[in-house]
Amino acid sequence: MDCIDKSDSQIIKFKQNLKRLGLNIKIQKKDFLKLTTNQNVSSILLDAPCSALGTFRRNPDVASKINQSKLKRNQKVQMQMLDKAINILDENGIIVYIVCSFHPFETINVIDKIAQKHKNIRTLSLESDKMIKRQNGYFINPLQFKELGGSDIFFVSILEKTK
Ligand SMILES: C[S@@+](CC[C@H](N)C(=O)[O-])C[C@H]1O[C@@H](n2cnc3c(N)ncnc32)[C@H](O)[C@@H]1O
Repeated sequence: MDCIDKSDSQIIKFKQNLKRLGLNIKIQKKDFLKLTTNQNVSSILLDAPCSALGTFRRNPDVASKINQSKLKRNQKVQMQMLDKAINILDENGIIVYIVCSFHPFETINVIDKIAQKHKNIRTLSLESDKMIKRQNGYFINPLQFKELGGSDIFFVSILEKTK
């Protein structure tokens, strides 16, 4: 597995989390949008940059830091990253798009726009009682994690590249 992030500070945090979880995964500093590959990849987990609105339970200040124009800027980057991911993906390859946001601009609208742009992309279904189904993805249902004290809200959409 190849993990990349373009930010030094994020890589430090990521490494701390890996250590805490006892996972041995290498992460490299690279800009995904400038990535060149010799061969395509079969799957990509895209934990995309977003407003982090879904973490408001732990970080109440996220709501005051975000506005409409920042959300639009985030959407642009999310679309660029998905375009790139689709570009380097094998046929029948899978992209798991995740954001810790519940705002439509960063979730269902992004997937709608990507599916309109790339006719060779379809969304796949998930079977889980812990998710709330929308037209092209799923939100984590925080009510299903009461025994853990609740949870942040994430959006996930699984995309398959067809012919
Ligand atoms: C939601 S965070 C991912 C957090 C990571 N999964 C973790 O557990 O630490 C989104 C990340 O995308 C990174 N990012 C944004 N644009 C990028 C790009 N063009 N290439 C690589 N990483 C990028 C940011 O630095 C940020 O760390």
